[in-house]
Amino acid sequence: MRVAVLGGTGTLGSPVVRDLAARGHEVRVLTRTAPANPVPRTRHHAVDLTTGAGLDEALAGVDTVVDAANHIGVRSTKVLVEGVRSLLAAEERAGVGHHVEISIVGCDEVPFSYYRSKVAQEQVVTGGPIPWTLLRATQFHELVDQLFTVAAKFGVEPHGSLRVQPVDVVAVAARLADAAEAGPAGRIREVGGPAVQTLTELAAARREVLGTRRLPFPVPPLGRMARRVRDGALCLGNDGEALSFDYAEWLRRRGAKPGS
Ligand SMILES: NC(=O)c1ccc[n+]([C@@H]2O[C@H](COP(=O)([O-])OP(=O)(O)OC[C@H]3O[C@@H](n4cnc5c(N)ncnc54)[C@H](OP(=O)(O)O)[C@@H]3O)[C@@H](O)[C@H]2O)c1
Repeated sequence: MRVAVLGGTGTLGSPVVRDLAARGHEVRVLTRTAPANPVPRTRHHAVDLTTGAGLDEALAGVDTVVDAANHIGVRSTKVLVEGVRSLLAAEERAGVGHHVEISIVGCDEVPFSYYRSKVAQEQVVTGGPIPWTLLRATQFHELVDQLFTVAAKFGVEPHGSLRVQPVDVVAVAARLADAAEAGPAGRIREVGGPAVQTLTELAAARREVLGTRRLPFPVPPLGRMARRVRDGALCLGNDGEALSFDYAEWLRRRGAKPGS
């Protein structure tokens, strides 16, 4: 199968590209910037979702598109919503038969502008012209770790009752590769990590594995968004599938990093 991976250099896109290439598929990596360490036997195509530049050339002859592009910030609507609209139009012109999209568990339940863009992106895909598969996942360990790493730079560690269920991105990537191979399936079973944990519990896991200790920085559940997160809106429901290992195990496997 010939597969194009939008955002194929990102946290999720990179393992998707590696996984699909290892399964023997012909993989094209579609991003603005060429990968620093390209995966062997893959090809980079420069595209920009915000302008549509490069999409027609990059999608010629492609069977399936996996969209793992991302932007968190003021331009998230431009990249995620308008971007996927022009991506689907280019897929239609190229005769692509399957669009695989990644979204976020509970994005429709937490009032946050980035999540509103994700919901709008889902609507464009599910109402769009290309047969689709949509997978929702919880936060990746990398995102949780980024929060603690940034806080550590200020000598603190976030504590509190906000709850998440972080997941190993490689396991999510494997689910996307399975979905790409399986063909259009609509909404498929949501995935997340094996443990629902509060910020305080994640901070404790970090202290135990890395041996670092910082000043506790309380993050109270102020506002509707934080209260929804405290109440588990970003965690899997009963139908979700728990994958792989928890944050502590992810830290152990990664090994200690200076400044953690
Ligand atoms: N991070 C999480 O915890 C998490 C959890 C669940 C779901 N997700 C979803 O997973 C997807 C990927 O997230 P991520 O965290 O892996 O993202 P990421 O690491 O920030 O990677 C973003 C990728 O998108 C590309 N990109 C950005 N702007 C672009 C543009 N204008 N045109 C073309 N490519 C562009 C980037 O390459 P260039 O900059 O070179 O273009 C990069 O390859 C998103 O849909 C996100 O909502 C993320």
